[in-house]
Amino acid sequence: MFSSLFYIAVLLFLLYGVSLAVDSINPLQSISDGETLVSKEGVFEFGFFSPGNSKGRYVGVWYKKIPVQTVVWVANRCNPINDSSGLLMINSTGNIVLLYQNKSVVWSTSLSKQAQKAKLELLDSGNLVLKEEKNGNSEAYLWQSFDYPCNTMLPGMKLGRDLRKGFNRLFSAWRNWDDPCPGDLTWGIEIDVQQHTFPDIYMWKGEEKHHRAGPWNGLGTSGMPVSRPNYLYDFDVIYDEDEFYYTFNLKNKSLITVAVLNQTTLTVQRLTWVEAEKNWKIYFFVPTDQCDNYGLCGGNGYCVIGGNPACQCLKGYKPRSVEIWYSTDWSEGCERNTPLECKDKHNDGFVKFVGLKLPDSSYSCANKSMNLKECRAECLSNCSCMAYANSDIRDGGSGCIMWFGDLMDIRKVASSKQALYVRMPASELGNSGPKERAVIVVTCIGGVSVVLLLGYSICKTKAKEQNIRISHSEEDLELPMSFHLYTIINATDNFSTRNKLGHGGFGPVYRGRLEDGQEIAVKRLSISSGQGIDEFKNEVTLIAKLQHRNLVKLLGCCIQGEEKLLVYEYMPNKSLDSFIFDQNSAKLLGWCKRFQIICGIARGLLYLHHDSRLRIIHRDLKTSNVLLDNEMNPKISDFGLARTLGGDLIEGNTKRVVGTYGYMSPEYVYNGQFSVKSDVFSFGTMVLEIVSGKRSTSFSPQNDNLTLTGHAWTLMQQGRTMELLDAHLRDSHHDLQDLQEVLRCIHVGLLCVQHRAADRPSMSSVVVMLNSDSHVLPYPNRPAYFMEIEAPQRYPESSLKLCIRSRGSISNHIYN
Ligand SMILES: *[C@@H]1O[C@H](CO)[C@@H](O)[C@H](O)[C@H]1NC(C)=O
Ligand SMILES: *[C@@H]1O[C@H](CO)[C@@H](O)[C@H](O)[C@H]1NC(C)=O
Ligand SMILES: *[C@@H]1O[C@H](CO)[C@@H](O)[C@H](O)[C@H]1NC(C)=O
Ligand SMILES: *[C@@H]1O[C@H](CO)[C@@H](O)[C@H](O)[C@H]1NC(C)=O
Repeated sequence: MFSSLFYIAVLLFLLYGVSLAVDSINPLQSISDGETLVSKEGVFEFGFFSPGNSKGRYVGVWYKKIPVQTVVWVANRCNPINDSSGLLMINSTGNIVLLYQNKSVVWSTSLSKQAQKAKLELLDSGNLVLKEEKNGNSEAYLWQSFDYPCNTMLPGMKLGRDLRKGFNRLFSAWRNWDDPCPGDLTWGIEIDVQQHTFPDIYMWKGEEKHHRAGPWNGLGTSGMPVSRPNYLYDFDVIYDEDEFYYTFNLKNKSLITVAVLNQTTLTVQRLTWVEAEKNWKIYFFVPTDQCDNYGLCGGNGYCVIGGNPACQCLKGYKPRSVEIWYSTDWSEGCERNTPLECKDKHNDGFVKFVGLKLPDSSYSCANKSMNLKECRAECLSNCSCMAYANSDIRDGGSGCIMWFGDLMDIRKVASSKQALYVRMPASELGNSGPKERAVIVVTCIGGVSVVLLLGYSICKTKAKEQNIRISHSEEDLELPMSFHLYTIINATDNFSTRNKLGHGGFGPVYRGRLEDGQEIAVKRLSISSGQGIDEFKNEVTLIAKLQHRNLVKLLGCCIQGEEKLLVYEYMPNKSLDSFIFDQNSAKLLGWCKRFQIICGIARGLLYLHHDSRLRIIHRDLKTSNVLLDNEMNPKISDFGLARTLGGDLIEGNTKRVVGTYGYMSPEYVYNGQFSVKSDVFSFGTMVLEIVSGKRSTSFSPQNDNLTLTGHAWTLMQQGRTMELLDAHLRDSHHDLQDLQEVLRCIHVGLLCVQHRAADRPSMSSVVVMLNSDSHVLPYPNRPAYFMEIEAPQRYPESSLKLCIRSRGSISNHIYN
C-alpha cells in the first residue's frame, strides 16, 4: 500500500517535473532560479532566464508554448545576477523583491501602500500582478507589470498616459539580443495636458523624434489610414479626462501577434507567430519608408514617396534656403511666398489639403467640442494659428485641432480622406475665386507601398513647379492591389505543403482561397536563395500593365518584411505540360482543344510583341509556363525573365543568358541576342510539342540522333508529316479540316524554329497563317538543333558543355 503511493508520487514527479506548475505565490513563498510560475492556461511562464548568449540571470515573463525563446517582460533589465542564487519574493513591506545571495536587492517594486493579504500571480494575458484579496473576492491590483512595459506590447497592454495618476507607459528597446537593458529607442505618447495639445504617438531615438504616427482621427492614426484590412487585431485609442492610450486586441486568440521595439532596425515590428514555420514573422513595421522619418522635409514641407525630390513645399510656400534645399537637405523647410499680414483677418483664408498626414501636434491646441466652422473662426482670430482640422473624422467630422507655428512632419498618405486647412494670405488665394480652395493630393492608390519598398517607382508623380495636382490617370488604376501578409497566410493555410502547386521561376507557388471564396495562386519569392529579387520586381512592373485574356492575371502582391509574394487568379487545370505530357491527361485533350490552345498562346504572344504598349519579350516561353483555366483557355505566365524593348528597338542583348534549354533560340543561347524572334522560336517548339505530345527537352527518337525539331522536319521532307501527331490523337476520328489544321500547325511550328532568326515569321504572320486555309506557306528551312550531335561542329566548346549538361531537364537555367 505504502509503496504503491510512493510509485504514484514518483510517477507524478516524472510527469510534472521538479515543481508542479503554479500560477501564484503568497508572502510565505518564493521563487528561486529554476522554479517558475505558469499562468492558468499555460500561455505564459515567469522565472529566471538568460537571453541570447548572455550568462547573466534575469527574471522575466515569456511565452511558454512558443518554442523560440520569446521574453516579453524583464524585471531586472540592467542588473543581471551572475549566479543562480537569485530569489524572488513578496517581502514584509508587501513589495516584490529580487534578492541576490540572500541579501542584496537587485530589483524591487516601490509600493506606497502595504497590502494586507497580497498574492503575486501570472495571468494568461502575460500580466504579472500583485493582488490584494479584500473580503474574499473583490480584488485590486497593487502593482502590475503591464504598467512597466519593456520592449514588447502584448494584446491588452496600454501605450500611453494615465492622466489621473500622472504616469506614462513608455516602451523601450533592448540594447541587443543579449542585453535587455534599454537602448535609446523609445515609443510612447506625448501630450501636454495644460496646453491642450492633441496627443500623438512617437518613437524617439535618444532625445530626437524618430517617427510619428500622426494624430488619432477616430479611425486610425492620420499617418497610416485604416483602409488597410487587418485580420489579426483590432486597435483602439482611448482619450478622455483620465487616460490617453493606444491598445490592441487579437481577433483570434490562437493567432498570436505582438509589437516589438527593435533597436537594431530602429523600428516597431508587428510580429505574428506562424505555427507552421515555428517562427515569428514580421507582419508590419514602422518607420516603413523615407517619408516616415520624422521631419525629413522641415517645417511646411511635405514628403512624397517616389517624388523627385522627395520633399516639396506646401502650396503657398517656398524653400527657406534654396541652395540648401536643392542640395537635398530639406531640414530648413519652407517659408511663405507672401508673409501673412494679419491686419485684417478677413483677408486671410484657408487652402484645403486632402491626402496628407496631419502635422506634428506638439504645437497644437485641441478642443473636442468645437465643430469645423467654429474651429475655422477660432483659428482665423489668432494670427499665429496656421492650420486647423477636425480631430475626429467619424460621422462627418467633429472636434478641432489648431496648429501654431511651422507645420512639421507632413507626408502624403494616398488613401487618407482627412482634410487639413492651411492658412493663406488673400494674395495666395486668388482674387476672384472663392476664399477656400481645395487642393487634393492623390498618389497611386494601394500600389504606392509596394512601389516604395521595391525602391523604384512604377507610378511617376508628375509634380511640376505647381507641386500639388489632381492626378487620376489610367496609370494609377492598373497598379496591382497590395495584399496583407496575413490574408495570404490565411488563404494558403500558412503555405502548407498540401497547397503547394509547384515551383515557378523564382520560388514555390501555392494554392489559396481568399475569405470571399476566390481561389488564388500565390508565388513566393524564396527567401533563402537571395536570388530572384530582380525577377520579382520585373514581374510586378511588367505584368501590372498587361491585360489580355491569354495572359495570366495578377491580382496583387504583398511585400512585408522578408516576404515577397505575387497573387494570381488560380488556374484550376494547372499548366499545359501537365496535360500534354501525361499519358492519361493527354487523351482528354483532343485536337480541337489543342488547336484552340495553340491559337490562344499565339494571340497572347502577339499582344506582348505588338499590341501592348510595352513591346515585351517573354524569354522563357515553355509549356510549363502556359496555364489553363477551367475552360482550358491558355494563359501565358511567369514574366520573371521578360524584357521590354523600348520604342522601335527590335532586338536586345544580354550577358546573362537565362531561359530553358530546348526552348531557347540558338542566337540567344550562343550570343545572348534576344528579340521577338527568340520568343517565336520558343513558340514553334511548343507547337511541335503540343501536336506530338513529346517534350523537346527529352525527345528520344527511335533512330538517328534527331531532336524533336529535326524529327519533325525530316518527317515533313519525307511526306510523312502526320506521323508526328500524338499517338493518343491518331486513333480518334478526324475530319479533313482537322487534318489540315494539324498539318498547318506543324508547318507553322517548323517555320518558327528555323535556324536563322530572320527566316522566322513574326507573331502577326503566325496568327494569320494559323487561321487561314488559303494561305500558301513558305517551305521551312532546316531547323536549329537539327541533331543532337551537331552542336560541336558549330559552336564553341564552352557552350557545348552547357548544352549537354542541361539537356533533359525542363527547368534548367543556363547562366553565362
Ligand atoms: C536565506 O535567508 C532565509 C531567511 O532570511 C533563510 O531561511 C535561508 O536559509 C537563507 N538561505 C541561504 C542560502 O542562505
Ligand atoms: C530586429 O530585427 C531584425 C530584422 O528583422 C532581426 O534580425 C533582429 O533579430 C531583431 N532584433 C531583436 C533584438 O529582436
Ligand atoms: C482561429 O485561428 C485558428 C488557426 O488558424 C483557426 O483554426 C480557428 O478556426 C480560428 N478561429 C476563429 C474563431 O476564427
Ligand atoms: C494664439 O494662440 C496661442 C496658442 O494657443 C496663444 O498662446 C496666444 O495667446 C493666442 N493669441 C491670441 C491673440 O489670442
